[in-house]
Amino acid sequence: MSVRPTDEETLATLARDGYAIVPGVFSPATVAQLRSDLDRAIDAERAYHKGTDYRDFGMVMVCCTHARCFVDVLGEPRVMNVIEHLIGESSIVYAFTSSSMPPGRSNYSYRVHVDCPRLVPGYDTNAGVMMLLDDFTEENGATWILPGSQHTKEAPSEEYFFANAKRAVAPAGSLVYLNPRVWHSGGKNDTDRWRHAITLNMCRGYMKQRLDIPKMMAACGLDLTGVSAKAMQKMGFHAQVPESLDEYYQPPEKRKFRQSNE
Ligand SMILES: [Fe+2]
Repeated sequence: MSVRPTDEETLATLARDGYAIVPGVFSPATVAQLRSDLDRAIDAERAYHKGTDYRDFGMVMVCCTHARCFVDVLGEPRVMNVIEHLIGESSIVYAFTSSSMPPGRSNYSYRVHVDCPRLVPGYDTNAGVMMLLDDFTEENGATWILPGSQHTKEAPSEEYFFANAKRAVAPAGSLVYLNPRVWHSGGKNDTDRWRHAITLNMCRGYMKQRLDIPKMMAACGLDLTGVSAKAMQKMGFHAQVPESLDEYYQPPEKRKFRQSNE
């Protein structure tokens, strides 16, 4: 059994390599719950797309609209402490997708890419973390990551990348923190089983989300009773643009935008 690194160790590894693996964060029971809810979410999005012949097949676009367990992950300190250290307590979800790979397929992540188009020296606008719901192996598409490449604006050549990149091989229940500026590539799943993971891309609290999560949460009908204040804040409920003077002049605790701008 591996020893889980402290947040300080994780942050130091992340600063040096652009990624850091933290094993043993989620229990087998939590992994099983997330995995079965993800299977249902993939089915729901396949129904939306009317089939499997689309580029992102297997990638659920906004996980937290599909099941309560995805919402609760957002309030989990073992996930969020490192993120908040990097981009502040007011950080919110930019995107919350799955990074699942169907059997015998890859997906759009196969190209060598970064997850954030901006490179601002000395300042992170985004922070990322993958939560592994299956063991990541070389056979089922464990992500390729080029260590230390988070400071490089230009893409490396494919030859250089694949000669020097490391694989994120780790057991189910692990986290893989990934600087969104590190050059990486999804592998290919050469097995006959799905390989499941969910991925958070978090952004500063003053930035726009990829999709309007508070509105999508209202529309999806998921019961948010008892959801932690932290999870609500991460979904962006305290970072919305007021739609009227009435909304703007509400008392602070009722305002749609009531968090500091870090
Ligand atoms: Fe990516």
